[in-house]
Amino acid sequence: MQLFLDTADVEEVRTGVVDWGVVTGVTTNPTLIARAGQDHETQVKKICAIVGNVSAEVVSTKKDDIITEGRRIAAWHENVIVKVPMTPDGLGAGKVLAGEGVRINVTLCFSVNQALLAAAIGAYIVSPFIGRLDDINEPGIELIKSVVAAYRQQSIKTKVLSASLRNPIHVQDSALAGADIGTMPFKVLESMMKHPLTDAGLEKFLADYRKTQEPKPVQSDKGAPAR
Ligand code: G3P
Repeated sequence: MQLFLDTADVEEVRTGVVDWGVVTGVTTNPTLIARAGQDHETQVKKICAIVGNVSAEVVSTKKDDIITEGRRIAAWHENVIVKVPMTPDGLGAGKVLAGEGVRINVTLCFSVNQALLAAAIGAYIVSPFIGRLDDINEPGIELIKSVVAAYRQQSIKTKVLSASLRNPIHVQDSALAGADIGTMPFKVLESMMKHPLTDAGLEKFLADYRKTQEPKPVQSDKGAPAR
């Protein structure tokens, strides 16, 4: 499963991609862009300069407007994937854009049928949301399992991107369910690498190493048995 960051923060992207070498893509949405405090185009271009596979979401809601906005966003950078909402207009516009060679991510997916519709327009990615289903007392991970199973059964190539991941358990469960990609906030990525036994083990190894570096006490010959 590829690990994506769900962020519009350039420093978080740089850390995950360049410093740690574990992140291969980014998803953004209007909420995250607003949080970054920059205009959409500037922020997406900065992120595209660091990593491929950057989902940038349209804010238009009518088919023709989504097509126009999607073309504009796709022209920003070759790494851009245009994110459209799971609505009739979003699907219709996504189909046109996909036909023009634009990679499409259909977002806000909450059912297997919606995932089938995303595949039907030739979407590159579908984004089922786990956390928001958990929020309403429906187990989100079951949706990932079902979408993966349906896509396998139907030999569908659209990638399943497990989204709205709120904790490290969501990440490992998505991988076990067969998701192609998991996208997560930076703090969830950080929490994936934490384990108390790793910290304790490293501390012990370093303490033992330091002991080997300490000067050895000088041995006196006095009293040593004759050879
Ligand atoms: O990738 C979608 C994500 O941004 C939604 O996450 O936590 O707001 O449900 P959340």
